[in-house]
Amino acid sequence: MSQLPFDEGTSQRLEKLYRTRDALRRRRLVREAVGARVGERILDVGCGGGFYLAELLDAIGADGSLAGIDSSPAMLAIAARRCDGHDNVTFREGDATALPVDDADFDAALCVQVLEYVPDVTAALVEMHRVLKPGGRLVVWDIDWATVSWHSSDPARMDRVLRAWDEHLADPSLPRTLATHMRNAGFEDVRFDAHVFATGEFDPDTYGVAMIPLIEDFVAGRSGITPDEAAAWAGEQGDLGDRNEFFFSCTQFCFQATKTH
Ligand SMILES: C[S@@+](CC[C@H](N)C(=O)[O-])C[C@H]1O[C@@H](n2cnc3c(N)ncnc32)[C@H](O)[C@@H]1O
Repeated sequence: MSQLPFDEGTSQRLEKLYRTRDALRRRRLVREAVGARVGERILDVGCGGGFYLAELLDAIGADGSLAGIDSSPAMLAIAARRCDGHDNVTFREGDATALPVDDADFDAALCVQVLEYVPDVTAALVEMHRVLKPGGRLVVWDIDWATVSWHSSDPARMDRVLRAWDEHLADPSLPRTLATHMRNAGFEDVRFDAHVFATGEFDPDTYGVAMIPLIEDFVAGRSGITPDEAAAWAGEQGDLGDRNEFFFSCTQFCFQATKTH
């Protein structure tokens, strides 16, 4: 089955999702891990709508520079608009496994919720290793979707919805093997932190609630789930919210590593 398409429709939905409080928290954690310094050159692999690039501009200053690469023209168009007027930010369409940039060109690279969509993760990490300078820093963020704990009065339907949602990417539990992929690609000093995104409130500013329309749209018509059933699944979450019985939790992982040589 085909993965989530990063087209015009998805990019509009992500634009909304990435303005939520939980998305702001995630970007703060990623920025802290990247630790950008004045004058640095930083690459965002799978830059999406360019939120990270726009937010890194202050840290690198006028002497630094940024590059964003993404395989989706729709996402790149949004990113370019967001960074309009800053001539130290460039964008290229390209695949994570064949980065259209020179060797040893960057002080740091980030790759947030992208590798879980890439079938050959080691190939993408080998590319990130190639384009970093010796001493360069890498930050990768991905979700283990098997950590999702989500209340429903119909757990069998919830389970089928989440299994269908697993089809939206290449590896729903990539964090479990990511450290090995990183070491195989030549990175050293590999480490990670786990961050729980959980809520008991039906608050559209939280990751779980903001994901409901995306999941409903994606699973409708997949794995035997009809559009009516997908709508009933989403509707039940609103009902649980009305009764103050909503519960969502998932664990997201921030990996860091260094290119030593
Ligand atoms: C969930 S979005 C994350 C966007 C951005 N990193 C962020 O966190 O705001 C995933 C992004 O990865 C891009 N992407 C997926 N597969 C890719 C690949 N093989 N090479 C480059 N970009 C890819 C998509 O086009 C999309 O913009």
